[in-house]
Amino acid sequence: MTLTLKLTDKETVLGRVALFTFEDANGDTLPAYSAGAHVDFDLGETGTRSYSLINFSLPAANAPSTYQIAVQCEEDGDGGSRAMHALEPGVILNTSRPKNDFALHEDDAPAILIAGGIGVTPIISFATDLTSRAAKFQFHYATRSQGHCTFEETLETRFKEALTLWFDDINQIDLTQIIANAPDDAHIYCCGPKGMIEAVREIAETNGYDKSHIHFELFASPAGHDGDTPFEVEINDGRVFTIPSDNSIVDVLEEAGVDIMYDCQRGDCGICQCDVISGEPDHRDVVLSESERAAGDVIQICVSRAKSARLVLDI
Ligand code: FES
Repeated sequence: MTLTLKLTDKETVLGRVALFTFEDANGDTLPAYSAGAHVDFDLGETGTRSYSLINFSLPAANAPSTYQIAVQCEEDGDGGSRAMHALEPGVILNTSRPKNDFALHEDDAPAILIAGGIGVTPIISFATDLTSRAAKFQFHYATRSQGHCTFEETLETRFKEALTLWFDDINQIDLTQIIANAPDDAHIYCCGPKGMIEAVREIAETNGYDKSHIHFELFASPAGHDGDTPFEVEINDGRVFTIPSDNSIVDVLEEAGVDIMYDCQRGDCGICQCDVISGEPDHRDVVLSESERAAGDVIQICVSRAKSARLVLDI
């Protein structure tokens, strides 16, 4: 954690969604960031949670005076959003500098932006950036109903005909048509729930898009599954760890002082990927393709578990 931020404003924007505004606690300007970047917040006993920076203004953020994030309070979530919503203006938090595992392409190719629910936050920053570049893009935003559509008026004002709103109870998003009608050279971005990301990736691959043109980020930490059971992980120095049903391989190994790399802890960035020497992974990420999952020779250790009693990992 290298930044110290002060919460200066918390505004309810819709139902359970609040917009948080932070400034540097010492009054300095903040590090610049690019669209799609996130910041890790140290929430004390709750742990660290990552939230995408949201940028509505033109031009793209550069040495900004504030960071903004939008957080939807999930009563049955993992506690991160509840901890954020419990914060009041004036509180000081330690955070990381902005990091970006979900960056926008730099070339002139058009972009198809697809957001589900509160996954709209990095997608708004993409749309802002693309608007400032006068680049071609479509912005598709799906929510359960119009009443769940966060920032509706602002988005309609800023992104006009590039924006299409989809409401599950009236006109459910048609991912097949959107992707089938997209230009061949388009970059496709999706941030939303796991099912939406998996559908976008599958349809895009079926339509011939190269992996390098399909980009995605989960907006929430994946919940554990009912029936998860403990399993063992053996690493290269011979140590064996038991991974309990309510904890991840990353958390257990880190607590034991094992040097591991990770970032998102949601299963979408791929940074924690390890080779599997033996055992059968239970993949919970959105990084791997169906064929990579079936091969079973790599695993994202932040979210995935084991179908076998023990995994031997190249760590
Ligand atoms: S830390 Fe991002 S996929 Fe595991």
